[in-house]
Amino acid sequence: MHFDTKAIRQQMSRTPFREHATPIFPTSSFVYDNAEQMRAVFANEEQGYIYSRFVNPNANEFEVKMASLEDMDACFSTASGMSAVFASFMPFLNAGDHILSSRAIFGSTYRLMTNWFPRWNIEHTFVDGQNPEIWERGLKKNTKLFYLETPSNPGLELIDLEKASAFCRAHNILFIVDNCFATPYLQKPAQYGADLSIHSATKFIDGQGRVLGGAVCGSEDLVQQVKGFCRATGPSISPFNAWLLSKSLETLGVRMDRHCSNAFELCQILKGHSKINWVKYPFDTDHPQYDLATKQMSQGGGIVCFELKGGVEKGVDFLNNLKLLSLTANLGDSRSIASHPSSTTHAKLTEEQRLEAGITNGMIRISVGLEHKEDICNDILQSLDKL
Ligand SMILES: Cc1ncc(COP(=O)(O)O)c(C=O)c1O
Repeated sequence: MHFDTKAIRQQMSRTPFREHATPIFPTSSFVYDNAEQMRAVFANEEQGYIYSRFVNPNANEFEVKMASLEDMDACFSTASGMSAVFASFMPFLNAGDHILSSRAIFGSTYRLMTNWFPRWNIEHTFVDGQNPEIWERGLKKNTKLFYLETPSNPGLELIDLEKASAFCRAHNILFIVDNCFATPYLQKPAQYGADLSIHSATKFIDGQGRVLGGAVCGSEDLVQQVKGFCRATGPSISPFNAWLLSKSLETLGVRMDRHCSNAFELCQILKGHSKINWVKYPFDTDHPQYDLATKQMSQGGGIVCFELKGGVEKGVDFLNNLKLLSLTANLGDSRSIASHPSSTTHAKLTEEQRLEAGITNGMIRISVGLEHKEDICNDILQSLDKL
């Protein structure tokens, strides 16, 4: 079956009411006809739901779809992208272990590694994900996994999934990809041998800025370990959020097509503009990793970055001049969003740390929405004109 058909037609079995759309199951627990059935379900001898902290029909439908769209065996869904990130680490690490990570990663993931993991004696080394030749230098005897984001948030750096997979196989470490920016519609890490592909479903998967959610996809064995960790710690997705995200997957393909075509158009219009130093978009021929982008992604995604001449001050002015675009922390919404990472999401990092993550002072990130492309471009152009 094709991607869109799978995203639309995979559905939990109908209830006796014969509904067309999936109902929502806001229940904490499930009942049994008798003690023997309850025992058998708890013993895994009979299929059945138990308790929504770890299993619920809506979560299950979302997970079945996500796994099949990622071309992976299994998925476990969580309350947010960050709980998916955390749950993709913790079952596989012990005190004294080491993580090799790309340096261009989402701010909270960065803080997890730098502020929290050291408390449990879990160390990390950041490497330039764009430069496979130096990855080996970051390895230690106790390295357990390689973690990366491609394209990265917000700098749109790409990492060669095929090379990363070969590297992880050669060194017998887990290979974890945050696939949030691409979504399974544009990029399938499993195709290149990733062990886990994780998501902030809050972004393009919801696509309308309504709910938080996360997903960890992988082999049955690895996902069972993630599920075991989450069953014990409880970062559960709510039935409503899972229902909404499963519904949202039905339109992921058509939405991503439009996000991508609008973003490409915006990039072309901004190229060479007198107020900016550079524009970055993975499917633009001037992106330094254009060949890699077109190899491992089917389209360039919904995010465009550019650098304003004039640093932080102009970045702030640019945001203030916008009339249509939203100033908000999210991305992957039907509404276009502008953000200035160095005065907001990444303000707590030092300038050096920001530069390491590919963020310069004048850099603006646009999450290109589904409005008409002319309206999006015109708002950005009028704001640039006023600088
Ligand atoms: C690449 C990436 N990973 C993870 C997250 C965390 O997701 P959430 O906000 O759903 O916890 C985000 C959020 O922006 C993200 O952009």
